[in-house]
Parts: sequence; C-alpha cells; structure tokens
Amino acid sequence: MSRPPRRLPTAHATAAVARLSGPALRMLLQLLLLGLGAVALAPAPAAAAEPARRDTLVRMVRQDCGSCHGMQLTGGLGPAITREALADWPLDSLVATIYQGRPGTPMPGWRSMITEAEARWIAEQLRSGFPQEGSK
Ligand code: HEC
Repeated sequence: MSRPPRRLPTAHATAAVARLSGPALRMLLQLLLLGLGAVALAPAPAAAAEPARRDTLVRMVRQDCGSCHGMQLTGGLGPAITREALADWPLDSLVATIYQGRPGTPMPGWRSMITEAEARWIAEQLRSGFPQEGSK
C-alpha cells in the first residue's frame, strides 16, 4: 500500500499524539483515516453525519455560523449562505471553505470542530436549504 507523503516530521507527530487524550486521539485518527481513506472509501456524503450529531451540527450552523452569516443565513458580516446564494457553487469549494476557512478573511476554518465529512454534510444541507433547529 502506498502512503501519501507526510508533512509533519514523524518524531514531532509521534510526540504530539502521545500527549493526546482518548477523544482527541480518536479525532486525530479519524482525520488521518479520512485523509488516507478519502479515495478508497465509497463516498456516502449524506450518511456522514449521525442523526444525533446532526442536531449538534444544525445548532452549530444556526448559532455559530449565524453569528456572522445572519440568523437566517441571509448575510451579516459574512455573505448570505442560503440555497439561492450558493446555487452555483461547486460542492467541493463549499466544503473547503467551511473546513479550512478563507485565510485573510474573518471566515474561520472548522476543522477542529467537525470532520471533513461533516463539513460536506453541512455544505449539502446549505445548498438544499438548511434545516431549522429541532427539525428532523
Ligand atoms: C467570524 C465570522 C464567520 C463565521 C463564524 C463563519 N463565517 Fe463563513 N464567512 C465569513 C466571511 C467574512 C466570509 C467571506 C469570505 C470572503 O471574503 O471570501 C465567509 C464565507 C463563507 C462561505 C462562502 C460564501 C461566499 O459567498 O463567499 C461559506 C459557504 C461559509 N462562509 C460558510 C460558513 C459556515 C458553514 C460557518 C459555520 C460552520 C461559517 N461560515 C462561519 C465569516 C464567518
């Protein structure tokens, strides 16, 4: 099996991993697996967010993202991110914007809070009309 080149010096990465506690370590491993497995795994974007996790993600988008993009996501400090506003965006660009942020702008990356699969789920929901909190 061929591996993609590592960006972190192995010793540093190993030391950093050794200091992590269980949940953080699991998250790191998930991120690594996500990266390594991105091509190998069959993509199942809509199924990526577990139902219990979806409520959390919906609340996060409504409240955290809403603080900049407006409570109805129709714009504030950040632009509107409604279905209409995002209709012409390639999904991958949306995912990258949410997951990595936009350097040089106030748009932060959310990679410490969510997985890339969850960023994809959010992007898909935004493009099809984001659910209200408490809706299933
Ligand atoms: C601190 C304020 C802030 C927060 C919080 C924030 N954003 Fe943004 N966002 C911005 C700004 C400002 C831009 C425009 C960046 C630019 O000028 O290119 C942006 C751009 C975007 C874009 C691209 C839209 C466009 O037309 O450029 C998307 C999609 C987006 N944000 C989604 C989100 C999501 C989803 C969240 C929550 C997970 C979030 N944002 C949280 C400020 C924020």
